[in-house]
Amino acid sequence: MKYQSYLLTTALTAAMATGAVADELRDEAKEMFEPIPSTVPMQADNPISDVKIDLGKALFFDPRMSASGVFSCNSCHNLATGGDDNMPTSIGHGWQKGPRNSPTVLNAVFNIAQFWDGRADDLKAQAKGPVQAGVEMANTPDNVVATLNSMPQYVEWFKASFPGEAEPVSFDNFAKAIEVYEATLVTPAPFDAWLNGDDAALNDAQKAGLQLFMDKGCASCHNGVNLGGNGYYPFGLIEKPGADILPAGDKGRFAVTETADDEYVFRAAPLRNIDQTAPYFHSGLVWDLKVAVQIMGESQLGEDITDEEADQIVAFLGSLTGKLDPVVYPVLPAETANTPRPTG
Ligand code: HEM
Ligand code: HEM
Repeated sequence: MKYQSYLLTTALTAAMATGAVADELRDEAKEMFEPIPSTVPMQADNPISDVKIDLGKALFFDPRMSASGVFSCNSCHNLATGGDDNMPTSIGHGWQKGPRNSPTVLNAVFNIAQFWDGRADDLKAQAKGPVQAGVEMANTPDNVVATLNSMPQYVEWFKASFPGEAEPVSFDNFAKAIEVYEATLVTPAPFDAWLNGDDAALNDAQKAGLQLFMDKGCASCHNGVNLGGNGYYPFGLIEKPGADILPAGDKGRFAVTETADDEYVFRAAPLRNIDQTAPYFHSGLVWDLKVAVQIMGESQLGEDITDEEADQIVAFLGSLTGKLDPVVYPVLPAETANTPRPTG
């Protein structure tokens, strides 16, 4: 009897201790990270409606938004492959190779600014960039608007999405519709379930990896909802990587601010779905996530991360891979005799 009660007490103490440790880890994590919210995030000056989401989706998938009629947003941000193109740097108009790796559009709505250097304030400002970039879609705002106006179905959808506006079909509204669609591309992950109280959502290796991620200092730059995407730091804060990882030509935020302090400064990359979006870094020159983690240790923290530690951190990063609601491929309006012909 005595022995049984001893066993019971020991079991209870162990359970309480495990629970306490789990709570401690969660309390510490909640100071640094936030779960994905349960509703679609509101966008400034751009009310969300179902019809606008559907319009944005059509535009996201429509290759006729590019001059050649070949490239859609989905070409480089393929929703079937983690919201990126899995190439070192993207291929765009005329098969040109762009200068940077394509980041995922999944959860991009939670970044404080868009692009590796944060040069676009929000998703609507961002969406105007690729359409006009010579190495991406190489189009002009006028030609986009002419293309949209040539298809009565698009005109109807713009009218319904921007009620009461004198000129609903505009380049601004094109960007706003895409912004609203992108705001729906969020992927709740096991890490969110765990932050919200589900102890079983992370396994032991993932919990050990989370602890390391915080103890080593990764979380000082990779925090918030997206574990990154919310601050700027020199890539090579402690030790500058070689040109095989950080090519000299791309000076990051320096091109935006023209301040010497911003040379080789980049936005701390958001880390959700990171195990789906190789290759890594703005140069796209590192294919292995474990190697990317060890490079970060050296370059940003001056720390050698052992193989075992890197495995645990990679296990934790795996818990950031979430589920996108099934994407039904949209049927797009048919072109008419007035639709501008593809060029280039
Ligand atoms: C960056 C959306 C078309 C390649 C981004 C970002 C978003 C986005 C939201 C920023 C993500 C972040 O900073 O984390 C779109 C939309 C498109 C489009 C809505 C269609 C209108 C394309 C195309 C290509 C492309 C066609 C490839 C030819 C890239 C690259 C970046 C980027 C390389 C990073 C550029 C930099 O940081 O300088 N895109 N994209 N995108 N996208 Fe796209
Ligand atoms: C990029 C993980 C520490 C700032 C990345 C990437 C990973 C990562 C996997 C690549 C993301 C991608 O290609 O999409 C880690 C881990 C860390 C750590 C595991 C701890 C060992 C830090 C710290 C800072 C930082 C302490 C700030 C001082 C950045 C920046 C980038 C980045 C600026 C973008 C680099 C680029 O321009 O390509 N991080 N990171 N990281 N991280 Fe970290």
